[in-house]
Amino acid sequence: MQTQESSYIMQVVRGKYLSHLYWGRRVEKYRGSRAMIWKDRGFAPNPDDTDRSFSLDTLPQEYPQTGNGDFRTCAYGVRQENGSRISSLYYDGYEIRPGKRKLQGLPASFGSPEDVDTLVIRLRDDVIGLVVELEYNVFDQRSIITRSVRFYNDSQCPVTLTKMLSMSVDFREQEFDVLTLYGAHNNERNMDRRPLTSGIVQIESIRGTSSPQQSPFLALMRKHADEDQGDVYGVQFVYSGNFLASAQVDAFQNVRLQMGLHPWNGEWYLHAGETFQTPEVIMAYTHEGLNGLSHLFHTFYRNHLMRGKHANALRPILVNNWEATFFQFTEDKLLALAQKAAEVGIELFVLDDGWFGHRDGDNSSLGDWFVDQRKLPHGLPWLADQIHGMGMQFGLWFEPEMISQDSQLYREHPDYVLHAQGRPYTIGRGQLVLDLSRKDVCDYVIDSVRTILADTDIDYVKWDMNRHLTEVESGAYAPCQQGEIAHRYVLGLYYILETLTSEFPDILFEGCSSGGGRFDAGMLYYMPQSWCSDNTDAVCRMKIQYATSLTFPPVTMGAHVSVVPNQQTGRVTPLETRGNVAMSANFGYELDLNALSQQELNVVKEQIARYKEIRDTVQNGTFYRIKNPFEGNLAQWNFVSQDKNHVVAFHFEILSQPAAPVQLLKLKGLEADALYRDVDRGTVYGGDELMYAGISIPLKKQDFRSECYRFEKV
Ligand code: DGJ
Repeated sequence: MQTQESSYIMQVVRGKYLSHLYWGRRVEKYRGSRAMIWKDRGFAPNPDDTDRSFSLDTLPQEYPQTGNGDFRTCAYGVRQENGSRISSLYYDGYEIRPGKRKLQGLPASFGSPEDVDTLVIRLRDDVIGLVVELEYNVFDQRSIITRSVRFYNDSQCPVTLTKMLSMSVDFREQEFDVLTLYGAHNNERNMDRRPLTSGIVQIESIRGTSSPQQSPFLALMRKHADEDQGDVYGVQFVYSGNFLASAQVDAFQNVRLQMGLHPWNGEWYLHAGETFQTPEVIMAYTHEGLNGLSHLFHTFYRNHLMRGKHANALRPILVNNWEATFFQFTEDKLLALAQKAAEVGIELFVLDDGWFGHRDGDNSSLGDWFVDQRKLPHGLPWLADQIHGMGMQFGLWFEPEMISQDSQLYREHPDYVLHAQGRPYTIGRGQLVLDLSRKDVCDYVIDSVRTILADTDIDYVKWDMNRHLTEVESGAYAPCQQGEIAHRYVLGLYYILETLTSEFPDILFEGCSSGGGRFDAGMLYYMPQSWCSDNTDAVCRMKIQYATSLTFPPVTMGAHVSVVPNQQTGRVTPLETRGNVAMSANFGYELDLNALSQQELNVVKEQIARYKEIRDTVQNGTFYRIKNPFEGNLAQWNFVSQDKNHVVAFHFEILSQPAAPVQLLKLKGLEADALYRDVDRGTVYGGDELMYAGISIPLKKQDFRSECYRFEKV
């Protein structure tokens, strides 16, 4: 398989073993240089015959099997009705077709026959009657290959799939670092780069969502690779539930890279004649370092994953009432906030949690999606009209996957809760989770959200999800299917999202899970932006947004200015810096504008005016990371517009230092022989000068200081 930048080569060994030869920098024509070297290795058992030099334990496999001599981690697992857990897959042919089919019920990348070709390799286990189709989609212009797997039970008996990964690649070398993103609520996506040594590096979520604890992303990097150069292999899962990603170093210094559904609570009972489709993994290789990797992912997501009219449209600047009022609001309070927002140039007013049922705190009313007349006596349509009358759009918060025990819904349908027979509930944030493995529950969710969206003129929806899944079982399924519920929950969610986003194509949807707790490529397919973190502290946000940008374009990250001292960290940072961090992504405010001084309001007005000028460059341009805040006191990055005429650069210095060095900002992605004018200062520089010599940043005695530079090509 060839893309513009990469080649991916497989070989069928001995007429039946599908093995992996190469994935990496493009090779124009492969003539066999990387031949397999056979050797008799101790403890490496031999299938077929007595040739001791051939073993599955040393063969680089494309989709490793289980129970017959490859002792490394397998890519799939089965359990037959007779208890047997062994499976051997043999090559059974291939097919190449233009274009790419939809993955039934799952989010996945898409493209026309001009964009993408599909290779399907068929493998068979004749003893079980199991067919495994490995699907590869080659987006050659984008240098991206995607992979997924389809299992087909071609026998007369049921079989249980006990593991169904979406991809596995065996590298015949080991000199890599591994990069993953870990975190927590309020501390999402920290970069963790460490050497790959012996054993397994494994990241996972068994929380029912992709989670803030680990992101479904893993990269292998050459030791010397950095932001701008060096081999990087990145894989990302297009899925929002439990996942596993691992890199295993074997005894002979080969690396097995894998990603897919987590096998814990992740079985599937496959009746005769049935198929199971895994979600998709996006695979990107570049020799241009992490920025190169990001550019591949960003362009790919913009063109082949994000859908609908908002995917490539400019996004409105919003104000959200959450941190301004929490649950304690009245119509008057909201209208006063909206009025001020309109005055300063904000374009979208978002009413967050607390507008429904009798929700005065976080332990009631989830599931009761009808307006609380005490707080909003004139109702939602009236409120939306008022906001529209001020020249702004109107947005509304929902948390539709949840149910409070103190709710009308729970009183009527206690069975709607995800629960295990005879066991008490585990509560999270005072709430329970709806059993979305059940179609009737999904339909209730669709109907209740649909009623509000149809009755009120709504432009934007914030779709929240504030706890993880426990007691993941369902009375609606047979005992042998209980291992399916975690995946069925995610499929139910995708059914709901597909229905609502197609019925309301004009609404801009923003994902959220207590901040950026479900910021994944699966959600991005339905919702082209996500709240990046509940932590709006400028210093923390530099890091969170920096790491999130590894695969997600800044336009997808909701980033708001909030009050100081910051509610999560207590830190006091200048309004300018909070603005510059938030303006580096999808911009908005989350504070009581009426509590600001006139001087602060003037700064807010300037920020909004500035963002409107730079918005196209920030939201549609190419993003370059320059200085990594995880590595020191600085953060720097810049954006270059698609036509390369506009550049926006940001410089952040976290703590003021004695004997401070004069810092340089060396821009990236400019045209070396073009001239650029500094829009705010009038000076003209060469592109080469700005990139290679850099701009000297004036010294300032101030913690958390920041600078924003705008350039226009002359
Ligand atoms: C968690 C979200 O991340 C917040 O922005 C806010 O919407 C609250 N939920 C509301 O309960």
